[in-house]
Amino acid sequence: MLWERLFATKSLEMLDAEAKGENRLRRVLGPVGLTSLGVGAIIGAGIFVMTGRVAANDAGPGVLLSYAIAGVACALAAFCYSEFASMAPVAGSAYTYAYATLGELFAWIIGWDLILEYAMSAATVASVWSNYLNKLLKVLHIPPVPDYLCSDPFSNPGAIMNLPAVLILMACTTVLVIGIRESAASNTALVLLKLAVVIFVIVVGIAYVNSQNWFGIPAEGRKLPEQGIIPGMANAHAKLEHDLLQASEAWAKQFAADEKLAKKLEAKSVVVDTNNSSTKTLVRDKPPEAVKKDDKKKADEEEAKDPVKARAKTLREQALAKFIVDIADKKEHKESKHWIAMRKEYEGRLPKTDKDKEIVQVIIRNASKEAPGEVAKKWGMVAQFGITDTLTTIDDKTRSNFMPYGISGVMLGAALVFFAFIGFDSISTHSEEAIKPQRDVPIGILASLGICSILYIAVSAVITGMVPYYNIDTSAAIASAFTDEGERTQSGLLNAAGGLIAAGALAGMTSVLLITFLSQSRIFLAMARDGLMPQSIFGAVHEKFKTPHVSTIITGTLMSIVAAFTPIYVLEEMVNIGTLFAFVVVCAAVLILRIKRPEAPRPFRCPLVYIVAPLGIAVNLTLMFFLPVETWERLVYWLLLGLVIYFLFGYRFSALRGLEKNPASGATHTPTSPGGTGT
Ligand code: ALA
Repeated sequence: MLWERLFATKSLEMLDAEAKGENRLRRVLGPVGLTSLGVGAIIGAGIFVMTGRVAANDAGPGVLLSYAIAGVACALAAFCYSEFASMAPVAGSAYTYAYATLGELFAWIIGWDLILEYAMSAATVASVWSNYLNKLLKVLHIPPVPDYLCSDPFSNPGAIMNLPAVLILMACTTVLVIGIRESAASNTALVLLKLAVVIFVIVVGIAYVNSQNWFGIPAEGRKLPEQGIIPGMANAHAKLEHDLLQASEAWAKQFAADEKLAKKLEAKSVVVDTNNSSTKTLVRDKPPEAVKKDDKKKADEEEAKDPVKARAKTLREQALAKFIVDIADKKEHKESKHWIAMRKEYEGRLPKTDKDKEIVQVIIRNASKEAPGEVAKKWGMVAQFGITDTLTTIDDKTRSNFMPYGISGVMLGAALVFFAFIGFDSISTHSEEAIKPQRDVPIGILASLGICSILYIAVSAVITGMVPYYNIDTSAAIASAFTDEGERTQSGLLNAAGGLIAAGALAGMTSVLLITFLSQSRIFLAMARDGLMPQSIFGAVHEKFKTPHVSTIITGTLMSIVAAFTPIYVLEEMVNIGTLFAFVVVCAAVLILRIKRPEAPRPFRCPLVYIVAPLGIAVNLTLMFFLPVETWERLVYWLLLGLVIYFLFGYRFSALRGLEKNPASGATHTPTSPGGTGT
């Protein structure tokens, strides 16, 4: 029956037989190697880049709490992963666990979903790799890679592609085709370098921490939603103003011979409702980035050349200044040092002409209308339940200097910095290469997660303590915290430290790339062995190198295309939602197996499983709910695409089904997919 076929499970005995079968990967990894793999997969773009962005845009110093919450979500899942990994030490990780408990359809869904966790996260890391590359080149006084070759064309109009991302992914593909032993050696070197840099950041950075940056910045000083909306509206207005003037000029020339009329039209002020413009910028869709000094100089020069850009800049500055000055002038802020300083900073940029005053009023009025919607966006899917007012009240009640954006900022922050923890589970995809998987895989998972959690909280405390959160550089926060302090105090040493950190970050991200990429090939390998993917492509293991070379090359190529052309924030949120979903399934699967097979040998048992697993499901689901609606939609489309592929291929060529028809062929049945070579 269709139903039974879709939910057919692989028995634990089958998995055991597979793990002992021939033509498996070489068993070369001990507990230290596995922990090093874990740390290698975990510490990367998350801590070096996302921390700064989340602190600046979403959580303020509360990013520390975000890290703690994301760490708890991962720890709960890690215990469940450990139990499973000790029971079924084969390459497929969550995919295999789902096959053993929830059946083939779920296994496929998880396997497909894991592409988001592994391949997409490697693409995400590769695309921010270029930020730190340019940071390092700058410290070394080497000309940076030009902007148009350092970004996808969607985030940065005018850009062609992210070239450094492609190059680093190609380099990783080459290393991985050569083999695990060589990869493990290069990984250990990279891991040691990045650990040294992270510890350096903590030890040196502590001296520059000012606790005022954690507790002394008034919550009103946060980036208000209007500040994210106003620039887009000002830009739109400038464009509209220019288009209208051009149109009226053309009209005047064509139809009105009277020169005077043309002049009159030209001089006419244009005040339009920018709310009707289609070129608005929405804050969550594209987070506002803090402008770096070099970029600002370049942007200023460009703007001066282009009259529309120059006008947009004037309007932006005037509207932001008016917005800030109006707040500073409120009765309750008259005595506030913060607002007195802000007024002083902005009053020089207030609009001067009546026409500009009028335009600025319109922009501010429209921005204020949109602001509540922007605040609610921080609640992600939760905001879809139509309780925007309640959510805004909750944020207002939980707002403090430490948590300027309230609880939603911290929770959204947790859902985003969750990215930084991704990777510990990739150890379970290496179970097949572990010498003693039952003992060492749980050690590797829990040890690497524990080490990284402590380091993350310490680093985010240092960064938010060194720099006021709203000034944090959102593209390369950690290195910039040091180079900026170096520039401020004229300390060459701190500047050099910035360079060292950039080098460590590059090393760190490279090791993340190597391992997550490796894990992706392992998942494909497991799926191909089960006949759910073409065996000849994803199951082929190189005779000499013993690596899944064809799959590695194809994956590397696809990841390069994605990294070159896709906006980073879309990728990151997709990776997070996909991984959170996988964690929810693993927590559920461990519970199901405890009930279905209580007697099965479990070399590692998840402690208090009836509390830990349901809590793991709840916390990971909660984080999913804080991600934006668009991310949920993309997840649904992705999974639907996966289902179509399953029914076209996997369903027909599943090895398990072949086994049902012909049980004599054994647990490591050779699937009958087209061109299949078997294992
Ligand atoms: N955890 C990995 C990183 O932060 C994916 O780069």
